[in-house]
Amino acid sequence: MNLLDGKRLLITGVVTPDSIAYATAAAARRQGAMIVLTSFERDRERASETAALLGDDVDVLDLDVTEPDHFRRVTDQLRERWGGLDGALHAVAFAPRPALAGSFVDVDPAATQHAFNVSAHSYASLASVLAQLAPTSGGSLVGLDFDASAAWPVYNWMGVCKAALEAVSRYVARDLGRAGIRSNLVAGGPLHTRAANGIPDFETLTSAWTGGSPMRWDPHDATPVADAVCFLLSDLARGITGEILHVDGGYHAMAAPLGRPADPATAGT
Ligand SMILES: NC(=O)c1ccc[n+]([C@@H]2O[C@H](COP(=O)([O-])OP(=O)(O)OC[C@H]3O[C@@H](n4cnc5c(N)ncnc54)[C@H](O)[C@@H]3O)[C@@H](O)[C@H]2O)c1
Repeated sequence: MNLLDGKRLLITGVVTPDSIAYATAAAARRQGAMIVLTSFERDRERASETAALLGDDVDVLDLDVTEPDHFRRVTDQLRERWGGLDGALHAVAFAPRPALAGSFVDVDPAATQHAFNVSAHSYASLASVLAQLAPTSGGSLVGLDFDASAAWPVYNWMGVCKAALEAVSRYVARDLGRAGIRSNLVAGGPLHTRAANGIPDFETLTSAWTGGSPMRWDPHDATPVADAVCFLLSDLARGITGEILHVDGGYHAMAAPLGRPADPATAGT
């Protein structure tokens, strides 16, 4: 018996094999899930190449999360394919460069609004897809967060979008709980993906983890985040909603930098 046997899952946000969504799709398939991916026009070709690495039976549906019509079409396509949907991963974020770098207080609102639409509002739209398709036993929606409880040295308006995403997830949990639909986020540590590499001075974050995370954190390994997503998509998490699960090596729980990581050879002497 596998964790996700028989689950019908929609996974957004696969573009390269480094994508957190790719690691999740691979883990979900190993756990017995049936999956369908989505991508949007700009990344469609790359996403299809990446999807093929998962198996030749993995389809990629078109979904630009700024287009309400696309959500309606994906809903129809899933209804036709499976007659329902048990869970979905929201792994989509984007901010125009001015919203990520430079003066925080002098950004064109058009840039921040676009970042908000793609990175936070779309979570509610995906929740609506799941609400229309979930069986009476319920469903699970999971999103990917970067701890938004404090300001980072980089990240700017994407940090604000993550704070919004945290709030959106709580409201989705509030409104869909009666239908048995859960809404949770996994707050991952920094990982080298295409989106992360577009964040100016992203290395500031990976360096912070080197000296601040009690457990070793590998910024090239998305599988710990993927496995936690699979848990939240599974029935083992049936009593959990409105939660933010930190999968960051414990960084969020430390009050101050720990200094250089302990040398295991001399620890305890
Ligand atoms: N990489 C990290 O350090 C990190 C840490 C915590 C959380 N996250 C979050 O994980 C999620 C996935 O990002 P990733 O790091 O795997 O990077 P990624 O570049 O692999 O994935 C980002 C995805 O967003 C998609 N996307 C962008 N605009 C879109 C639109 N309008 N419509 C549909 N799709 C669109 C891209 O096609 C891509 O698949 C994001 O929400 C990100 O903020 C990343």
